[in-house]
Amino acid sequence: MIDKKQKIIIANWKMNPISFIEADNLISTIKKGLKKKEDMRIIICPPSIFISKIKKNKSFELGIQNIFWEDKGAYTGEISSKIAKNFGVDYAIIGHSERRKYFKETDEIVNVKMKSVLKNGLSPILCIGETLKEKNQDLASDVIITQLEKAFTDINKSKVLNIIVAYEPIWAIGSGIVPSTDEIMSAVLLIRKIISKLYDRPTAEKVSILYGGSVNSQNALDFVDKTRADGLLIGSVSLNGSEFVRIVNLFG
Ligand code: PGA
Repeated sequence: MIDKKQKIIIANWKMNPISFIEADNLISTIKKGLKKKEDMRIIICPPSIFISKIKKNKSFELGIQNIFWEDKGAYTGEISSKIAKNFGVDYAIIGHSERRKYFKETDEIVNVKMKSVLKNGLSPILCIGETLKEKNQDLASDVIITQLEKAFTDINKSKVLNIIVAYEPIWAIGSGIVPSTDEIMSAVLLIRKIISKLYDRPTAEKVSILYGGSVNSQNALDFVDKTRADGLLIGSVSLNGSEFVRIVNLFG
């Protein structure tokens, strides 16, 4: 179970880097630079082919960027959360906007993946967020509510504190354009309100909610300190080892 007081910083490497030598260098920089912090959780999500070579250690834990919802069987190309768990992976990103867009992952698929991940003892990192068009049409809250309610369908209260929710407005991902801290705070509060409605207030208060989208070492601190978010999900900047370390070391 995730301790609410811990800050969580997640590196989502996406489909990078292109060789294990580079991945290994990145890991070395991270290991060297990270100061040991009891009150923080650092989760690295490399391409899954690297995972067997990158062992979790005292500096960080491992997450997988995608899983299939069945445990095993004839599903060419897929990796199950059961297999990932057996490899020392403790987290799985689910519902990232790139998977929703390029792989047509629906809210229903997100929900079955959530259940599979929880059943196998991993923590889902559930990504939700609106497109620019939805934001401009004033639909951001509706999108957040729908994505969250569907993702949490039939998930028992006893599992909820294993879930990390990442609010990632799609227009902020990789764009260099970021929401104001007030906008992030509104989203964080809305997410807690919905979880409170689905379960109860104490549960909602304890769930870890992160912000993601064009995070860098200049904006990282404000995105946590001024928004009530519990941490960050970092994409492109996490591929720069020293920059990633700089961000982590801003906290704690
Ligand atoms: P970014 O990506 O930090 O490059 O904007 C964030 C994400 O997609 O999780």
